[in-house]
Amino acid sequence: MNERIDVESAIQWWQRAVIYQVYPRSFADSNGDGVGDLAGITSHLDYLAWLGIDAIWISPIFPSPMADFGYDVANYVDVDPLFGSLADLDRLLAEAHARGIRVLLDFVPNHTSDQHPWFLESRSSRDSAHRDWYVWRDPRPGGSPPTNWLSNFGGPAWTWDEETQQYYYHAFLPQQPDLNWRNPEVRTALEGVLRFWLDRGVDGFRVDVIWQLVKDAEFRDNPPNPAYGPALAPHHRLVSLYNADRPEVHEVIRGLRAVLDEYPERVMLGEIDLPIERLMSYYGESGGGVHLPLNFLLLITPWDPARIDEAIRRYEAALPAYGWPNWVLSNHDTPRVATRSGDAQARVAAMLLLTLRGTPTVYYGDELGMRDVPVPPDRERDPFGLRLPGQGFGRDPQRTPMQWSTATNAGFSDVEPWLPLDTEYATRNVEVERDDGDSMLRLYRRLIELRRTPALAVGSLECLPQDGDVVSYIRRGADASFLVALNMGETDRQVTLPEGCHGGVVVISTHLDRQELVSTRFTLRANEGLLIEVTD
Ligand code: NOJ
Repeated sequence: MNERIDVESAIQWWQRAVIYQVYPRSFADSNGDGVGDLAGITSHLDYLAWLGIDAIWISPIFPSPMADFGYDVANYVDVDPLFGSLADLDRLLAEAHARGIRVLLDFVPNHTSDQHPWFLESRSSRDSAHRDWYVWRDPRPGGSPPTNWLSNFGGPAWTWDEETQQYYYHAFLPQQPDLNWRNPEVRTALEGVLRFWLDRGVDGFRVDVIWQLVKDAEFRDNPPNPAYGPALAPHHRLVSLYNADRPEVHEVIRGLRAVLDEYPERVMLGEIDLPIERLMSYYGESGGGVHLPLNFLLLITPWDPARIDEAIRRYEAALPAYGWPNWVLSNHDTPRVATRSGDAQARVAAMLLLTLRGTPTVYYGDELGMRDVPVPPDRERDPFGLRLPGQGFGRDPQRTPMQWSTATNAGFSDVEPWLPLDTEYATRNVEVERDDGDSMLRLYRRLIELRRTPALAVGSLECLPQDGDVVSYIRRGADASFLVALNMGETDRQVTLPEGCHGGVVVISTHLDRQELVSTRFTLRANEGLLIEVTD
């Protein structure tokens, strides 16, 4: 048993959990406006319970002008009518909890909408009560912006306010002004927001761009990035040294964590897009920071056995003793795994995600093998893509409607959905895959079920030497030991069990067609992953 693993009773629910990300606009439309909503999610909770997931994280549902589809919040303590009402959320919480499913919301504390009353008041005059709630600065001599900082969505990160003759800072769109977390009133207000939702029974939060909350006190210019290349978004021309990952952010995070700790069994996931070594600092000293700093290594690592193997080792080695791992395979900001790795490897990827050590997050539709859907220019909606046309930054392709059935609009909506559907939804959908014993959906369900075995849920992980196309590791618990062997190539491979293992039983193949005894040497077919219970 790995010494990192606490005794059974000290293990928190979220360590054993599989978390499922719902992008609410695209999950299920209950009221016929072409956009998903809370009642739509509630109506599919039985499906999620059947799939076996433990928690859902719902991307933002708060009142918003939707300049960035909800990541521009105009009121932190209500629900946008597009998604329903607070009563709908209460119902969703009750129905989810009745099925043993926890509910996490997406907390967006770095910035508000420019339509938030705080910002409207802040920009109304230099003496306004909320002026210092945002990041206002004088121009440099000559009138240029106060720093060279760039917006994540292209262009400068400062917008000039004619009325009050100052610039305000926005890490994203000009419609998303950054809050000033150095102001204690901001901290108190946002901590109050957390309590509002925790009191309602929400089980935790995914916190948006948490590593960017605090900006440099001296507003120094960012240095150029020597690694910048055309494949990277334009803001990577500079290294975000002074507008992100500032040391003071950890104190702010401790404050947020303290609020969660006032309630039992709550969890905080943090969006942190940093190199692994920096990511680790977000667990906080002795684990008093973010419970799960989201780990994007599988999102950004090319689907190559040597690179994936190295990523697993590097991440595991970097984790502090108190840091529980997390793995993300797809999300609403990055192309889907089936598109990145190809259909055949998407099954291998599923086995990887669900057998690695640590809490996995599954992005809605990945369990069906959903792929990115090409979105024609006239249907493009994502501001990132629209601001940098033709450069491939748009995130609409990975946000298309969930494919429920063969019905019109894939059973997502009675009307044309806000984004186009995959033209092949008639074969890749919940209804069809549920009845097909060999489907990707069946594979996900079975892997999630198997993950409940203590060895896979909380056991240790030992990487075995990578061999050509084969990545393999052993998960060991008090109850059992499993070998996971993943063939990331197109040809059959011979695999030898590690020394000390005398044989085993194939518990599941990604092809879902194999349950047999294996001796010390066995064949792994092309694009096949095997989970083998081994006997020492
Ligand atoms: C990260 C979110 O995941 C992304 O979708 C959003 O556009 C930015 N933060 C801004 O909130």
